[in-house]
Amino acid sequence: MKIKTQYVCQSCGYSASKWLGRCPGCEAWNTLVEEKTSPQSSREAALEAAGLHGTLLSSGRQPWVALDPDAPDADDATDSSSSRGGKAQARLATGMAELDRVLGGGLVPDSFVLLGGDPGIGKSTLLLQMARGLQKDLRILYVSGEESVDQIRGRAHRLGVEGKGRIFLAAETLLENVFATVKELKPHIVLMDSLQTFSSGMLESAPGSVSQVREVATRLMALAKSSGICVWLVGHVTKDGNIAGPKVVEHMVDTVLYFEAESGQSYRLLRAVKNRFGSSRELGVFEMDGEGLREVSNPSMLFLAERKEPVAGTAVAASLEGSRPILAELQALVAPTALAVPRRTAVGVDGARVSLIAAILERHMRLSLAQNDLFFNVAGGLRLSEPACDLAAAAAIWSSAMDRAIPNGWIFIGELGLTGEVRRVSQLDSRIEEAKKLGFKTVVLPRNSAEKLSKYSGLQLIALERIEELPRIFT
Ligand code: TYD
Ligand code: MG
Repeated sequence: MKIKTQYVCQSCGYSASKWLGRCPGCEAWNTLVEEKTSPQSSREAALEAAGLHGTLLSSGRQPWVALDPDAPDADDATDSSSSRGGKAQARLATGMAELDRVLGGGLVPDSFVLLGGDPGIGKSTLLLQMARGLQKDLRILYVSGEESVDQIRGRAHRLGVEGKGRIFLAAETLLENVFATVKELKPHIVLMDSLQTFSSGMLESAPGSVSQVREVATRLMALAKSSGICVWLVGHVTKDGNIAGPKVVEHMVDTVLYFEAESGQSYRLLRAVKNRFGSSRELGVFEMDGEGLREVSNPSMLFLAERKEPVAGTAVAASLEGSRPILAELQALVAPTALAVPRRTAVGVDGARVSLIAAILERHMRLSLAQNDLFFNVAGGLRLSEPACDLAAAAAIWSSAMDRAIPNGWIFIGELGLTGEVRRVSQLDSRIEEAKKLGFKTVVLPRNSAEKLSKYSGLQLIALERIEELPRIFT
């Protein structure tokens, strides 16, 4: 076999024939690493690997165990696979509504899903809890390259996951061995934890290098598509430039999910950043506690600060995350600057959007922000990108600049135009419903959406045409 030497950037996958200090692809320094690759196509490699099973597995030990060794092997589950092919695929419910929604209504049987996130965020925990929900009529193989079978079993039992003869565990890092196990065990779902620990015997590069990571993903993709197995691949987001991150394989998979948390917070946000089978804007919210991940079905409660007295510099927005409205508190701090160029710092929203709103307020409300620093934050670590939050952001900045607190129970919904007009937003109804459900009493909204809303009897609706009208509504 001919071996080719390449220098591959471990952060973006750029490859060059000679070593370079700085990657021309992503401009990162010292990320190019020498990798030896065979020019064989991955398909050929996969076929060849199939012939290697006998030798690789000659150690004689069974490469997998059942999660519950005492439970009889539930063979009935395999029978259903024959009836699954052909017709339109039914979605599989994972038993976790938050996860199902992010996936676009459950799991697609032959899909290939990448689950990315920082180490320790809860990816393995999520997979095990998903296995609990799925095991009712499916066979699941959990392959870990990080933990021993006993460790996984211990954690599964702590989480209350029972195998019922349908969940199987394997501690393995060599991809060819994983394929042999899959061939023998015929699972419906294979959970691979994690991308950076697996490697193919066909390549010389180290596990976690770009070539290996790509090879592993390509071969698993082939497995999912050729045999109708649903494959989940965990990928740690890496800070170290020598280990490839999940970004490198995002383009190969059907669905990319990221699991995130604000540092020091116990809740976790699951986002789809790519989804061939549904919206990529959905957000799932979980909380990590002693019993694993708990679904948070009413996440607005997390992002609203509880306080009795209103304080200046805060306003509540209603943002639509996928199909679900989430209410969040926006916070602004306007303070005199000591610098020639005042600072504009934004966390949780696009900094450019905040600068734009500040400029609109300066121009149309004569708010003098030029001598002031402006800090902006979304409470609870939520990230908002919707223009429908503009009005709340403007209200928070105005409130801080004027030191006037906005009363409790008020919510702001509307987009701002550069000319200062308050513009209508999509799905106003569902946003208002959510606000009403959470006990908000006053909704400030665009004038041209207000007429149709007389049905909200218990709510005070205040309609604005232009941002200049904002101070008047508090008198
Ligand atoms: P884990 O799923 O191992 O993260 P990842 O696979 O993304 O690296 O989660 C590990 C963290 O979760 C660890 O810091 C402990 C915490 N944890 C809990 O708080 N409660 C639990 O029930 C479990 C299983 C883990
Ligand atoms: Mg893990």
